[in-house]
Amino acid sequence: MQWPNDYVFYRVPKRHYPVVDRGEGIYIWDDTGKRYIDGSGGAAVVTIGHGVGEIMEAMVRQARRIAYTHGTHFTSEAAKECAERLCRLVPDQRLNRVYFLSGGSEAVEAAVKVARQYWEEIGERDRYKIISRWGSFHGNTAGALALGGNTGKRRFYHPILMHTPHIMPCYCYRCPFKKKPELCDLECADQLERTIKYEGPETIAAFIAEPVVGATAGAVIPRDGYWERIREICDFYNVLLIADEVMTGIGRCGENFCVDRWGVVPDIIVLAKGLSSGYTPLGAIIVKDFIYHAIISGSGSFLHGHTYGQNPLSTAIGAAVLKYIEKHSLIERAREMGKVFAERLNELNEFDMVGDVRCIGLFAGVEFVANKKTKKTFNPALKVAHQVFDEAFKRGLITYPGTGGADGIRGDHLLLAPPYIITEEQIDEMVGILKDAIAAVENAVM
Ligand SMILES: Cc1ncc(COP(=O)(O)O)c(C=O)c1O
Repeated sequence: MQWPNDYVFYRVPKRHYPVVDRGEGIYIWDDTGKRYIDGSGGAAVVTIGHGVGEIMEAMVRQARRIAYTHGTHFTSEAAKECAERLCRLVPDQRLNRVYFLSGGSEAVEAAVKVARQYWEEIGERDRYKIISRWGSFHGNTAGALALGGNTGKRRFYHPILMHTPHIMPCYCYRCPFKKKPELCDLECADQLERTIKYEGPETIAAFIAEPVVGATAGAVIPRDGYWERIREICDFYNVLLIADEVMTGIGRCGENFCVDRWGVVPDIIVLAKGLSSGYTPLGAIIVKDFIYHAIISGSGSFLHGHTYGQNPLSTAIGAAVLKYIEKHSLIERAREMGKVFAERLNELNEFDMVGDVRCIGLFAGVEFVANKKTKKTFNPALKVAHQVFDEAFKRGLITYPGTGGADGIRGDHLLLAPPYIITEEQIDEMVGILKDAIAAVENAVM
């Protein structure tokens, strides 16, 4: 052991963390030689797989020229290439200005600030409220955490969080309006309209939501029609629509952006994670040009920024990842392999403790219940999702557990998001391990 004294402040200090050694494709090895399948791509980050030579070459090429300059001093070929490659993916040419950041939370903060600044610039100064949803996650910085609807993550920080309006999520397995699918009239979407009216339409700057809920509830896929209705409501009340595609964007759900699935064009798209496939911390917002032009012809500058925004090294890596995704048609691959993934994951329904399996592209959630019929949740003290995570990890499969999806505190799920290069055989192996892990926990808790 080279560094026997460990001064690292870990997120769960009592946990034993293996020491990572290297990664290749969908696999990670620790320093004992144990191999893991990266079944969640970290936190739904890794898209192109680990250890891709072309990305390392691009990294070194850029670092040899220059790694860092401040965004107010220079632009770079790297930033321009990354922005242009992103703009080739958008569903509408009006989404044509890219502002770079270092991760998802930073990008969410930038998105809501650019939305607020837009209304200032055009003289509608009363528009400052951002509506978001319960059962969502937008990041851990104070602003993003306040917008998020993850009760567990918010609980220690209430005194320092701003209070913003939250509406119910579109969560069909546990419909907040207790509707059967055949009687659903998208009441959850209409709650946005009601909230806008109660709050006062002239005070609302934007609505932010994840196209498919990620970390908080485990790949909660909205009904068809939901996002279309949301777009209509935003248009009617002149509210900016922000799609937080930090987890779902850049192919994760089988489309360039997840909202493409419903033909919806947001005013601002928030990205991170898959944009750099984890090769560097990188985030971005893509904004429609009318927002950008309001700033140019108004105060002249976006008041917001961070030290590492738009730095040459990170944007060069982002550009290389986007180029690799295009060259290998990986978004199409995510869509195709997603069908296999969904089919195999369906087999998990045979377990008594599996209440719901949701899959869109290579993004999946498995929700655990104590009673399949009543959908009763487990006692949170049992930490069932974390037990399944531990059993899978022991067996060499990495997943991403979460709690609180059902009502903020109760509810257990696993999120799965393998790299887009995963093969059918590897999916079989992954699902096989997952079955063993669930069986072990089911024996213990049911
Ligand atoms: C939808 C969404 N938005 C924002 C974030 C925050 O991103 P980061 O952890 O890079 O700050 C996350 C992280 O999981 C996320 O899932």
